Amino acid sequence: MAHVHLEKVTKVYPGGVKAVDAIDLSIADREFVVLVGPSGCGKSTTLRMVAGLEEATSGVIKIGERVVNDVPPKDRDIAMVFQNYALYPHMTVYQNMAFGLTLREMPGLLSRLLHPGEARSIKKGIAAKVKRAAEMLEISHLLDRKPKALSGGQRQRVAVGRAIVREPAAFLFDEPLSNLDAKLRVTTRAELKRVHQRLRTTTIYVTHDQEEAMTLGDRIVAMKDGVIQQADTPLATYNQPRNRFVAGFIGMPPMNFFEGALRIIGGEMVFEEGKLLSNKVGPPDGDSRPESTAQAGIELTLPGKGFRLVVPMRLRDALADRVGQRIVLGIRPEHLHLEAIVESCPIEVKLNVIEPLGNDMDLYMETNLNDRVVARVEASGRAAGLRGDSQVILNVDLRKIHFFEPGDTGMNLSLSSGFSSEPAHALA
Ligand SMILES: Nc1ncnc2c1ncn2[C@@H]1O[C@H](COP(=O)(O)OP(=O)(O)O)[C@@H](O)[C@H]1O
Ligand SMILES: [Mg+2]
Repeated sequence: MAHVHLEKVTKVYPGGVKAVDAIDLSIADREFVVLVGPSGCGKSTTLRMVAGLEEATSGVIKIGERVVNDVPPKDRDIAMVFQNYALYPHMTVYQNMAFGLTLREMPGLLSRLLHPGEARSIKKGIAAKVKRAAEMLEISHLLDRKPKALSGGQRQRVAVGRAIVREPAAFLFDEPLSNLDAKLRVTTRAELKRVHQRLRTTTIYVTHDQEEAMTLGDRIVAMKDGVIQQADTPLATYNQPRNRFVAGFIGMPPMNFFEGALRIIGGEMVFEEGKLLSNKVGPPDGDSRPESTAQAGIELTLPGKGFRLVVPMRLRDALADRVGQRIVLGIRPEHLHLEAIVESCPIEVKLNVIEPLGNDMDLYMETNLNDRVVARVEASGRAAGLRGDSQVILNVDLRKIHFFEPGDTGMNLSLSSGFSSEPAHALA
């Protein structure tokens, strides 16, 4: 058992790609941390540096109290499971699982020097560990088979079993479920979680799949371009995403984003949907509308074509100094309702396509300025009468909306200071 600690860890590959950029991350003993992010964001590189398969360009990596930057992989006391299971094809499941232990506990020369009784007792110990791991993973009946006689899911369980029997200080998983079909991914995921609940071995798990991250992690570390965007519990990441990237990456279908500006209309703070036409220094000539967004140096295309939404009281203080500026409204698909609810605001949208999912349905819609709006609603009630290619009124749950600064990683402006998440390194 061990905690894992990364301090200002950077990886620049030969050729100059900065794959990981000064990340700080402390993973507690027994914690299950998931690194999640789009392909190429530096997840595998981070994991491989912990494993010792890549050398960190700078920074400090600790496993337990030991700095391991210069420790070879085999001496780091970790076990890694990859996407491709990398089993030995000529060995049985049992031999595959026992192999690493046998190498460690009775290396070739040593085994010849051992007293036969001693060798027998080591072998018995190994057999007991393999048996226990096989039971935990429900592969006891497969121990005599060769890998080619196993399904993908079974092979991956053998790979996990091989890691378990070594009783390492930490498990490292790199997209271990990516080769499995959807159903098997879900069941194997639940199994991994159960294994962790039993063994409590510190685990770092890499995936590009936000659902896998949400379901498995004690904590999710969302990465983009080699930089940690947020390290938080799954629910905090979902409910209080620190920026637009995290908000858009975690949650499926993804959060809807609407470009626009904040205005004061009739004494009320209002979000007005609109796209930026140009950044102007001052109000355009002849524009005398006192409340126009143009006043603050921005102009929206198609003025009056977008929807308006009254900003709820709870956010007005936080947004006061953003009035007249560009801002991005974020609404999750599940927070758009067909029925009227308390503290909601109606917006009119054009419904294009309905995707039934059974209990729920996804509605694909557009506003005048945004053709990628999705709502997830219950399939019963008003939803039953919906038709594609029609106008509908949706009620936005104002208790759940977010506002972001413009840009891909624009900061979430709607988190009150009490809500905002701790930076990862403060959690150690
Ligand atoms: N051996 C390598 N040499 C050069 N660049 C690499 C190498 N491995 C990965 N990269 C680059 O580093 C970045 C991060 O890669 P990686 O850590 O594999 O991302 P992820 O696992 O999140 O998909 C990518 O831009 C990738 O192309
Ligand atoms: Mg990868």
